[in-house]
Amino acid sequence: MIVLERPDGIRIIRISSPEEALPYKASFAGAYQDIFSEPPYNERYFPSEAQAILRRYLSTPENICLLAVRGRTKVVGFGIGVPAMSKPDIARDLRGLLPVPHSYYLAELGVLESARGQGLGSMLVGQRLELIDHQKYTHVVLRVSAVRNRSYDMYMDMDFDDIGVYTEVHSRRTDGRVSTDRRLFMSKLLSRRKSALPTDDGSPEPFGTGS
Ligand SMILES: CC(C)(COP(=O)(O)OP(=O)(O)OC[C@H]1O[C@@H](n2cnc3c(N)ncnc32)[C@H](O)[C@@H]1OP(=O)(O)O)[C@@H](O)C(=O)NCCC(=O)NCCS
Repeated sequence: MIVLERPDGIRIIRISSPEEALPYKASFAGAYQDIFSEPPYNERYFPSEAQAILRRYLSTPENICLLAVRGRTKVVGFGIGVPAMSKPDIARDLRGLLPVPHSYYLAELGVLESARGQGLGSMLVGQRLELIDHQKYTHVVLRVSAVRNRSYDMYMDMDFDDIGVYTEVHSRRTDGRVSTDRRLFMSKLLSRRKSALPTDDGSPEPFGTGS
């Protein structure tokens, strides 16, 4: 499904199943490898691992998988989200801090270096915010590298809050070693309860949207 078409010819598409991903998965894997091999992440993924990551997200209920595509199948960017409950490590880190069943996790974002600085990154964030079910989810959450980079500024500009909570992520690095790096959680309110009291039927009463 085409979400939008930019004047520069790049299309933002939403894919919803591993079958729909078939024409793009090799190009997605190349982009994923390139983007996360750079500082501050320095991660090494094999193409099969990157493709398996995409397949896993696409098999997660309520996923939002957006690809920025140039030409027929060239993936120049991606933005992926899933419910926080579907990621046990995220759910564990956020317990007591955010309402985990009502939090949506923006899991992956990347734009090829050659396509950066043209609004694609913020578009891939904004479009996912639009597509989240605002009746069910009150918060969005994500992790950025604790080593300050441009993504932190981008999320601050988009009204995300730095919640001052850090976590360690284990990954294989480009030098072949497995090590941990620090990530910072950021979150954003999508809708909020009108009062601390529940409504007649006990359900939260959302109003307004943060996106
Ligand atoms: C973060 C990332 C997705 C941004 O992609 P992008 O397409 O360049 O993003 P945008 O063009 O929408 O720019 C978003 C903001 O980034 C900042 N930015 C963009 N280009 C920049 C540059 N050359 N120098 C400094 N800041 C820059 C600006 O704050 C910009 O907002 P503005 O356009 O309102 O000024 C991209 O740099 C990337 O893939 N980085 C590596 C992977 C990563 O860090 N992912 C995020 C993990 S959570």
